[in-house]
Amino acid sequence: MSEKRRINKMPARLDFLQSLTGVILALFISGHILFESSILISKDAMYTMTLFFEGYFFFGEKHPSIISFLASSVLIIIIIHAAIALRKFPSSYAQYKIFRRHMKSLNHHDTSLWAVQVITGFFMFFLASIHLYTMITMPSSIGPYASSERIISEVMWPLYFLLLFAVVIHAGIGIYRLILKWGLFEASKQKYMKQRRTLLRTIMYFVITIYLVIGVASLIRYMNIGLSDDFEKGERYHP
Ligand code: HEM
Repeated sequence: MSEKRRINKMPARLDFLQSLTGVILALFISGHILFESSILISKDAMYTMTLFFEGYFFFGEKHPSIISFLASSVLIIIIIHAAIALRKFPSSYAQYKIFRRHMKSLNHHDTSLWAVQVITGFFMFFLASIHLYTMITMPSSIGPYASSERIISEVMWPLYFLLLFAVVIHAGIGIYRLILKWGLFEASKQKYMKQRRTLLRTIMYFVITIYLVIGVASLIRYMNIGLSDDFEKGERYHP
């Protein structure tokens, strides 16, 4: 048998699929947080966004099933992404201890970032599933008032806070690691490599901070609407 035929291409293919699903999810979440932060502009702006995703401006009527379809597709991509990532998790306590020892001895920033990504990814799998299940089964209960009601009356805000921090940190580190892995930010000279990596890391922390600020501000605004007097008076019945 020739040397060429014995090469197993599966790990490389899985690696590529993980990168691809990761990029799709990171793009999705960066759009999601921005669209949903339209509540910071006004309730009408957020309602217009909701109508847009329900296809109102294309079909002349609302089709919340589009949101269910979108949410189901995102859930499938998350399941694929997580299933491929599982193979890299330390699978026993012994492996975990070896990893901890390596991390301490190397004191390597990027190795610690990988550990943060494993932990946030683990939590996100549960938190995002709850959120997506709601979006799939109740697509018509989205809007400035319906969302605020869910956040307050159904006590979704603690879950959203945890999910927000987990997803933004996870996606930020993920994209940083992808850029390094595929060599997209390399210096032409070896001696500048370290500075390049530090610069990239600074950009990553900056972007993570911006998204966290926008996400926290939006969440506080939804909570504020959910707790307001207008809401009690039934203002929610018009958009
Ligand atoms: C197509 C799928 C999705 C739809 C339609 C959707 C829609 C929404 C909506 C309308 C809100 C406002 C609160 C509410 O109505 O309950 C929200 C909040 C949120 N979503 Fe999603 N979402 C989707 C997928 C995801 C995914 C995959 C994640 C993360 C993995 C995520 C993370 C969050 C977070 C963290 C918040 C709170 C936002 C904040 O703090 O500003 N969502 N989502």
